[in-house]
Amino acid sequence: MLKDLTNRADVSLLVHAFYSKIRADKEINFYFNEMISDWDEHLEKLTNFWEMNLFGGKMYTGDPLQAHVKVEHNFSGKIGPNEFGIWLNYWAQTIDELFAGENAAILKLRARKMGTFIYMAMFNSRTKESLQ
Ligand code: HEM
Repeated sequence: MLKDLTNRADVSLLVHAFYSKIRADKEINFYFNEMISDWDEHLEKLTNFWEMNLFGGKMYTGDPLQAHVKVEHNFSGKIGPNEFGIWLNYWAQTIDELFAGENAAILKLRARKMGTFIYMAMFNSRTKESLQ
């Protein structure tokens, strides 16, 4: 029987397993490989992000909307609902493979909600040229 996430080690396991799937996906790994030069640092940052999201604290200090606006500018209109769908499917799939319970459900729901805001921020930052 699967357990629920209860600590940072659980979040770290989830983040590592999730990014293994992302990095193996030929349709979207390019976006990540292009922008992330230090994977250890990225995985640490994302572990901080989701640990804080789930258990509180102040270990993540970044700005996800701003970070994705930067991603949008790098790829000018190429990232859309299809890419977000792939991302969210891997997220839910990885959670379901490793964990079960209230926190597991919360993480799936929060990523889906966040995805909407991140996508809106990216879309709103598009330049006229990339909308043509
Ligand atoms: C659907 C929900 C998503 C969530 C919750 C999410 C979350 C995050 C977070 C928290 C960061 C770290 C931001 C920081 O640097 O402080 C990040 C970085 C990044 N995300 Fe996402 N993301 C999502 C979707 C996507 C999608 C669909 C793509 C591309 C197809 C993407 C590409 C990236 C890239 C390339 C970075 C690294 C940016 C950099 O370090 O310069 N994300 N994401």
